[in-house]
Formats: sequence, structure tokens, C-alpha cells
Amino acid sequence: FAAGALAGLKVVVSAGPTYEDIDPVRFIGNRSSGRMGFAVAEAAAQAGAEVTLVAGPVALPTPPGVARRIDVRSAAQMLAAVEEAAADADIYIGAAAVGDYRPQQVAPRKLAKQGGAGLTLTLVENPDILATLAARPQRPFLVGFAAQTHDLAAYARDKLQRKGIDLVAANEVGAGLGFETPDNALTVYWADGLLELPRADKRELARRLVEVIGERYRAVRG
Ligand code: C5P
Repeated sequence: FAAGALAGLKVVVSAGPTYEDIDPVRFIGNRSSGRMGFAVAEAAAQAGAEVTLVAGPVALPTPPGVARRIDVRSAAQMLAAVEEAAADADIYIGAAAVGDYRPQQVAPRKLAKQGGAGLTLTLVENPDILATLAARPQRPFLVGFAAQTHDLAAYARDKLQRKGIDLVAANEVGAGLGFETPDNALTVYWADGLLELPRADKRELARRLVEVIGERYRAVRG
């Protein structure tokens, strides 16, 4: 393991789910545990980076070596924290499972049952954090994740192009891999190449991923 793969670089990692509030006691969330992102943050610190970890609501301790942790709840809060932290960063790794939608309004009081009638929530789309950073003239090297159940390569290549990012780490979810599991397997895609990282526990996989990120960063940014 190349201990200095990210030596001297400022790296921002986002991790975990986002929670989009419906009312004071309810929210829309997802099953991301944050484990993969926290493992990536730890591996990046081990590889010599100065790491800022932007964490959604998770029950995980800050990994050793991580310089700064910013806890957020919603996608909007995550975007604001990432934009600030990434302003002078070399690399942004978006490992968070950002909610695609949020309720248009957050009810100020707990919603009551409708007496047998249904309840309709209107959702609006959240901003895409990676695409927002990619649109800037001065932007960090951008790494995204893709979790799909099928057609992994096509989705990953589409994500590279559509979001305008440098690297996509793709994993197949289901079949005991991905969310809420200790193991994962990844295929890393960039504009003109790919590398398969076989099934391993998330910390080992994170170390391999960080090595690839270091190699690709230096290939593109010198
Ligand atoms: O578009 P999709 O959610 O499939 O892409 C996943 C990747 O995009 C992840 O790296 C995730 O962190 C990032 N993402 C983001 N902002 C969003 C949604 C996803 O940065 N609003």
C-alpha cells in the first residue's frame, strides 16, 4: 500500500445518507451506513492527505487521522458544507448517498392523520453536489460513486459525462454487496480506462480506491 499516495493534498470526503425533513419528527432518508465513505476518509488520511469529512446522519466515530469533521443532515446542508470545504481542496470524493428529492415544504408542526384519506407529499429535486462543483472553473478533481443493480458500466460512463467528473467508483448493489454490508466490490471508471477492485472489506477496498485516485489525480493534474 502506497502510504504517500495523497501526500500533501487536501481532500474532502462526503459520507452517509441525507435526511430530508417532512415535519419536526419525520423525514425521508436512505439506508446508507456511511461505512464506505468513512473508510475512504480514513484511507485518504493514511495516504497522507489533509482530510475534511462531511458526514450525514450516521452513528460512526470519526476515523483516526481525519483533520476535520462537519456533521450535516440535509442535502442542502451537505452542499453548503462541501462547497465551503472544497473551495481550496485538491480532491472531492462524493461517497454520500444524497437524497434526490426533499419535501417542498417542511411542516412546522407534526402532521396529523387525515382520517382515512391519503396524504400527498410534493417533492422537489435536490441540487447535485458533484455537478455543482464540476460547473466551476476552479474545481477539485472529482470522484463520484454509482450504485446500480444492473448495467453498471453504462451507468458509470453516463455519470462521468453527465456530471462532468473525473472518476466514478461503481458497485453493484444487491446479492449481499453494497449498502449495510461489510464487504463491497468496485469498478473504477475514468474517461479512457477502468480498473476492477475485487470484493474486499470496505476498509481494504477504500485503501485500494485511494491508491487509484492518487494515480489518476497525478496523471491529470501532475
Ligand atoms: O446521480 P446518482 O445519485 O446516481 O450519483 C451518485 C453520485 O452522485 C454519488 O457520488 C453521490 O455522492 C453524488 N450525488 C451528489 N449530489 C446529489 C446526488 C448524488 O453529489 N444530489
